[in-house]
Amino acid sequence: MLRHNPVLLEEVLESLQLKPGMNIVDCTLGDAGHSEKILTVTSPNGKLLGIDADPESLLRSKQFLYRFADRIFFERNNFENLTKIIKTNGFSPIDGILIDLGWSSPQFKERGRGFSFQNRDEPLDMRYDMRLKCVHLEDNPPLSFDSKPLYGKCTAAEHLNKRNETDLEKIFREYGEEKFSKEIARLIIEKREKFVLETVGDLVDIILEVYRKEFKIEDKNKIPWIGGLHPSTKIFQALRIAVNDELGVIERVLPQAIQLLARGGRLAVISFHSLEDRIIKHYFKSEQGKTVNVITKKPIVCSDEEHKANPRARSAKLRVVEKI
Ligand SMILES: C[S@@+](CC[C@H](N)C(=O)[O-])C[C@H]1O[C@@H](n2cnc3c(N)ncnc32)[C@H](O)[C@@H]1O
Repeated sequence: MLRHNPVLLEEVLESLQLKPGMNIVDCTLGDAGHSEKILTVTSPNGKLLGIDADPESLLRSKQFLYRFADRIFFERNNFENLTKIIKTNGFSPIDGILIDLGWSSPQFKERGRGFSFQNRDEPLDMRYDMRLKCVHLEDNPPLSFDSKPLYGKCTAAEHLNKRNETDLEKIFREYGEEKFSKEIARLIIEKREKFVLETVGDLVDIILEVYRKEFKIEDKNKIPWIGGLHPSTKIFQALRIAVNDELGVIERVLPQAIQLLARGGRLAVISFHSLEDRIIKHYFKSEQGKTVNVITKKPIVCSDEEHKANPRARSAKLRVVEKI
């Protein structure tokens, strides 16, 4: 069984200044690599509240953490509901909080959600919890998710088949920083006159068609790799962000996390792309000296050794604050 390799593990343990008996919240359990170490260092009586929105991640982490069972609270929930989760579980005081954003390797490679452009036959779902009934979009629904919490309930395919060209372009440009956003949005609208986009392959073929045209590549089998990245990378990132409101949940969880920490407690956040990191950096800066001290003036990044062993760590950035 493939298990997610936790990034910046030693750096996280050090940043949280863990000691025996501490109470820690892991907002993104995943495959529990970080939590397993946290529980080891805080033994014999430190407690952990582990959260994940994906029911499968929760099941797996229960298996990985079985030997610590009497010191853990599990919660399947979105971490944007942190205050409520803490209250329901009566978990206090809180000495440290970890948020390791994004998705685990098995979620990408094995769970059939359409996260990876390599798995052509998978459905374009991209939600944390595929068991939820899919909400169908009206024509041209507003892009703001605030008034209507559609995120997590509506699949990537639904966005692709129902949104208008302007909104699709906006999603690709703002969440993917994709340079051919306009062209890709336009071709999606054209293609969906002929068929409904359902699988990863349906979308990848459209993206490749645009890239081949822009780069004047006639060979229909040639992949125009851009600086080592597949042309689909940014569009898939943009869709995941839109489907799960991934930036909105970060904005909503950070103030709650700081508010919930005990004085001297630490919040550590790992992000994987500049859109996430920007939100974290600006929020921490705006709270500096008021509610927190920023511990990491510059983000902590992985060592050369970790980079070699785990290529996913390459883009990880760890930022840490301490509650005043
Ligand atoms: C990068 S993985 C965490 C890996 C973990 N630290 C480990 O060591 O295995 C991120 C996890 O967070 C979960 N997740 C992402 N966004 C979430 C959210 N808004 N609420 C709750 N869980 C979320 C994902 O389902 C995934 O399991």
